[in-house]
Amino acid sequence: MTERGLFITFEGVDGCGKSTQMRRLASALRAHGHTVVETVEPGGTPIGAQIRAILLDPANAALGPRAELLLYFAARAQNVDEILEPAIARGEIVLSDRWTDSTLAYQGWGRQLGEDVVQSLDAIACRGRRPDLTLWVDVDVDLALARAGARNSAEANTANRMDSQQRDFYLRVADAYRALAEREPVRVRRVDGSGSLDAVFQAVWSTFQTWRARHVR
Ligand code: TYD
Repeated sequence: MTERGLFITFEGVDGCGKSTQMRRLASALRAHGHTVVETVEPGGTPIGAQIRAILLDPANAALGPRAELLLYFAARAQNVDEILEPAIARGEIVLSDRWTDSTLAYQGWGRQLGEDVVQSLDAIACRGRRPDLTLWVDVDVDLALARAGARNSAEANTANRMDSQQRDFYLRVADAYRALAEREPVRVRRVDGSGSLDAVFQAVWSTFQTWRARHVR
C-alpha cells in the first residue's frame, strides 16, 4: 500500500506513445495494490474538458499564444484543486498524461514564450506542487509525427490545431524535453520510446522501480 501520495507525469512529443504507457503503468500499480488516479492535461476535469475543446478546435486558429498559455494553466489549476491535491492527501498515486513540462516545451520553447512566464504561471496554478517523477517517452520527432498523423486520420475528423504545426516547432519541443532531463536528472527520466509497446513498458516499469527504491522513503 502507498504510504504517501505520489505524483507521476508522462511527457513527450505528440505520437510518442505516452498515453498507452501511462494506462499500462496504472494497471500494473493497481495490480500491486495501489490506488491510482489517472488524469490528463488539458482536460482532466469537466471544466478542463471544456477548456480542452477550445484549445484543440481547428476553428480557433485566431487563438493567440498568450491566451493559449493561460487556458492551459486554467485547466491545470482546476485539476490541482479538484483531482490532484485531494488524491495526494488520500495517499494515492496520481498519474497525469502531460503537465507543466508540456507547457514549458510547447509554449515556452515551441512557441518561444520563454520559460520564466511559464514558471510564474505554474506557481499560481499549481501552488508549489510539482511532479515527483516525470517519465519522458523519447522518440524521434519524425517517427512521432508520422504516428500522430496516422492516429488522426484513423479517427476521421480529429486533425487538431496543434497537429498542424511545423516540424521545426516539434524539434524545439523535443529539445526542451532533452534540456529538462539534463537539468533535473532525478525527477525527469528518459525512457526510450522507439521499441515495441512491451519493450517500452518494461523500460517504464524498471525506471519507476529504480526511482522508487532510491527516492521514496
Ligand atoms: P492530445 O490530443 O491530448 O495529444 P497527446 O496525446 O499527444 O498528448 O493534445 C494535447 C496537445 O496539447 C498536444 O499537442 C500538446 C499540447 N499541449 C500544449 O501545447 N501545452 C500544454 O501545456 C499541454 C498540457 C498540452
